[in-house]
Amino acid sequence: MNVWSAPGALHIARGEVEDADSLARLHAQGFYRGWPASDFADYLGDSRITPAYVATDARRRISGFAMLRISGEESELLTIAVDPKMRGRGLGAALLAAAFADLAMSPVKTLFLEVDETNAPALALYHRFGFAPIGKRKGYYPKPDGSAATALVMRATIG
Ligand SMILES: CC(C)(COP(=O)(O)OP(=O)(O)OC[C@H]1O[C@@H](n2cnc3c(N)ncnc32)[C@H](O)[C@@H]1OP(=O)(O)O)[C@@H](O)C(=O)NCCC(=O)NCCS
Repeated sequence: MNVWSAPGALHIARGEVEDADSLARLHAQGFYRGWPASDFADYLGDSRITPAYVATDARRRISGFAMLRISGEESELLTIAVDPKMRGRGLGAALLAAAFADLAMSPVKTLFLEVDETNAPALALYHRFGFAPIGKRKGYYPKPDGSAATALVMRATIG
């Protein structure tokens, strides 16, 4: 099993079913609409289709994660979230680097994602990894005030 280094005393490992509660908690801290832990357990149980990467310490205390969906030669970044107290230290970059390294050893040629076009930290991260915008989806992200933000669809080439 692959393990990648990460900032601080953390490392990046593949997500396991036992991580479902941690991932649901981190996801709820990062997004207006959370996902139930049972959904994460299902995804984590099917790691060939929906592999996850976790930033963790030696005692499996998880500070961030990324999850993909693989479909033939294409893949999608389903979600990525870092503990609010741990942001801005390179964990998001370490998670994406691990995902790219894994994909480079697979048949996958492209990685797509959707991001709120006003999410500056995420956009900075994605630009650094070579993602380029390929389209927009208006009214995609519901907001607490009843409005909805536009999603930018982005694509990066693997390898
Ligand atoms: C997006 C997210 C995963 C990034 O995680 P992170 O560990 O902070 O990522 P990194 O530290 O590797 O990189 C963050 C980048 O954002 C930049 N950044 C931080 N705050 C910023 C701000 N307010 N405006 C612009 N850029 C900002 C940092 O400078 C860094 O970019 P750089 O390396 O080019 O300087 C994290 O902010 C998060 O969990 N957000 C909530 C969930 C979310 O929005 N996920 C993405 C949905 S598509």
